[in-house]
Amino acid sequence: MSRRPTDRDPARKSAGGRGAAPPAGKAGTRPREDGGRPRGQSKPAAAAPVKHPPPRPRAPRVSRESIGTLLQTSGWDQYALLDMGEGEKLERYGDLVVVRPEPQAMGARRRPAAEWRAAGAAFTGDVDEEGPGRWRQRDGLGESWPMSVDDVDFVCRLTAFRHVGVFPEQKVHWDWVAGRVRAAGRPLRILNLFGYTGLASLTAAKAGAEVTHVDASKKAIGWARENQALAGLDAVPIRWICDDAVKFCEREVRRGSLYDGILLDPPKFGRGPDGEVWNLFDDLPHLVDLCRRILSPKPDFVILTAYSIRASFLACHELMGDVFGDLPGTLDSGELVLRETLADGGEGRALSTSMFSRWSAP
Ligand SMILES: C[S@@+](CC[C@H](N)C(=O)[O-])C[C@H]1O[C@@H](n2cnc3c(N)ncnc32)[C@H](O)[C@@H]1O
Repeated sequence: MSRRPTDRDPARKSAGGRGAAPPAGKAGTRPREDGGRPRGQSKPAAAAPVKHPPPRPRAPRVSRESIGTLLQTSGWDQYALLDMGEGEKLERYGDLVVVRPEPQAMGARRRPAAEWRAAGAAFTGDVDEEGPGRWRQRDGLGESWPMSVDDVDFVCRLTAFRHVGVFPEQKVHWDWVAGRVRAAGRPLRILNLFGYTGLASLTAAKAGAEVTHVDASKKAIGWARENQALAGLDAVPIRWICDDAVKFCEREVRRGSLYDGILLDPPKFGRGPDGEVWNLFDDLPHLVDLCRRILSPKPDFVILTAYSIRASFLACHELMGDVFGDLPGTLDSGELVLRETLADGGEGRALSTSMFSRWSAP
């Protein structure tokens, strides 16, 4: 029996796809609020052991704070959010139109049903299938296809996690970072944690940064390197590192390595290469604190993005404020938004994709 996949679908063999299932033995061992007892017998649940106490707030906060910012991507020649409704979205990635689940698409569809039916691939989420098997594809469609952003070519693929190797709403971060790199007047050292297929690393390095890209998945690193070659950016300085983000940063603290800009785009749950468990709610405060400790004396920015978590952007804002708020500059927090492209080329409705919090130097 088929069913519509949702954000909560367990992503098997997770190397940290968005919306991945909690690793066994971690979130699964968290006590339920009522300890699993029948009503009337409830006893306060024991607190889960804390791996690292949250960072102590650095006071006083001097950063200018701006909350509720919507950072919007309206699409580009190679990407468009064409329509959304009835729990799905219709998007064009390069030459391929795809249909994917979108729980936030609660309204009515605007484009004709024939346009939706003509899509080249639709994510079905068939749980018995792996990789592209979880998609219904047009005959003759290969496993991958090319796309580009601002002259950076890369490859898209239909993955088992319903993603295609690029999160287009992140373009607003890539453009902003590239602008900061060009304006810096020095080669910024940038750390890209949970870097996935490398688009943030490639666009930053193309703009002149020296990038360290960290991801726990060998497959993701391989894909990112493939993108580097395809983009003709073999000569740009990027260190590709397959490691657990927390372990890597702990080592960088010990080594005294410093970075001028840090990007973090952690999944809700993930695993390091040696099975290290990543659980955003437990581990993010410690990781953000580590990031503060590896910031250079002349830091430029720190950008945190979070997807598919049951939290407001205010939660990220206050955590970032505790850790970076004593630095002069601006702390901006809000949501990353995709804007629909209407049939006549105009702009349509907005779709929130994730939350972000960004500290930037004056
Ligand atoms: C959703 S992706 C990030 C998307 C990417 N930054 C972008 O915008 O295109 C999350 C990445 O985190 C990686 N990951 C999961 N757990 C990790 C861990 N413990 N350490 C490092 N990377 C991890 C996954 O392999 C995956 O590539």
